[in-house]
Amino acid sequence: MYLSKKFSSISPSATLAIDSKFKAMKAEGIDVVGFGAGEPDFPTPRHIKDAAIAAIENNMTTYTPASGTLAVKEAVCCKFKNENNLEYKAENIVVSNGAKHSLNNALGAILNPGDEVIIPAPCWVSYPEMVLLADGVPVIVNSTEEEGFLPTIEKIKAAVTEKTRAIIINNPSNPTGMCYSEELLREIADLCVKNNIYIIADEIYESLVYGGRKNFSIATISDEVKDITIVVNGVSKTYAMTGWRIGYTASNARLAKIMGNVQSHATSNPNSIAQHATVAALTGDQEPVLEMKKAFEERRNHMVERMNSIDGVSCIMPDGAFYIMMNISALLGKEIDGTVITGSDVFAEKFLEVEKVAVVPGKSFGTDIHVRWSYATSMENIDKGLDRLEAFIAKLK
Ligand SMILES: Cc1ncc(COP(=O)(O)O)c(C=O)c1O
Repeated sequence: MYLSKKFSSISPSATLAIDSKFKAMKAEGIDVVGFGAGEPDFPTPRHIKDAAIAAIENNMTTYTPASGTLAVKEAVCCKFKNENNLEYKAENIVVSNGAKHSLNNALGAILNPGDEVIIPAPCWVSYPEMVLLADGVPVIVNSTEEEGFLPTIEKIKAAVTEKTRAIIINNPSNPTGMCYSEELLREIADLCVKNNIYIIADEIYESLVYGGRKNFSIATISDEVKDITIVVNGVSKTYAMTGWRIGYTASNARLAKIMGNVQSHATSNPNSIAQHATVAALTGDQEPVLEMKKAFEERRNHMVERMNSIDGVSCIMPDGAFYIMMNISALLGKEIDGTVITGSDVFAEKFLEVEKVAVVPGKSFGTDIHVRWSYATSMENIDKGLDRLEAFIAKLK
């Protein structure tokens, strides 16, 4: 049997794998608590669902232009103008089947075989694989918890070679929840302009930034920076619309055309009903977004405080998204049921097996001394999970 070397070398998404294990255990009736999910636990707001129902009733169920309807593109442009003070026209926007698809389009549009893409880590599990799928070479630039999980500009500069074509800036970050400072973004932008490096700015969590802080979008630095930046965003996290599959890019018109052309052959348009719902999401009442954000912020504060009061683990306060990286280094080398906790994957495996709590091993994000907890779950579940964490730690020898 002949297989594609490229496709068969791609590893499955660790986060989706944990989530499906959790869902399977739950379906078996096991009292499992899941912290693996990368999706809001709220329903999609009513007015968005109503817009989708109206779209079906009005037979908006046919093909649309491959890169999205004009109505969605205009709504996306309004969002950029109102929220980021960025001016785009419809010709700059490509609407896709989720931000994941948008990222694949973006990498596909700029990379040739052997081109390098800098990925600050800890990073989202999909970035390195996406770069490999686009025939590129992922260049991981690590950062530590002491550095606030953000690479210094010196580390990024040291990773630049003549083959560097792009850098992925995920702000706020999955898995760390950290936001880049405006100063660091300006330094990165300067480096990219000077070295002709594209910036892929994944801002899917931009609306989930806490403590009165506002996310700084790198494309706003100057027209020159905007021209080399592909902003990636979508409705999944902001509007609790993960299953609807709508993401989008804003880029220079030439890149948008290339991405739209590829999409016209690869997938055609994103779902017509979901596009209609997206217009309602972007242009309608934003109060539900603020309510979800408030709930996430309360959960973050509670979880960080409680986690830091438990002996053996700790975490830093994330700025946004809905993830916490828990440091487990003090637990490494300890034993449970004859198994030594040698790293984050063993920890996650035993924690799930013994206490029925699902967390994601940091190893899949590039750090083996952390596990990721998502707080996109109820306060009750958070306390249940942390009670079980205390019980688990008490059993370690
Ligand atoms: C950093 C990051 N970018 C992009 C995505 C993809 O989002 P979408 O549901 O729009 O494909 C995710 C989803 O987990 C993510 O965490």
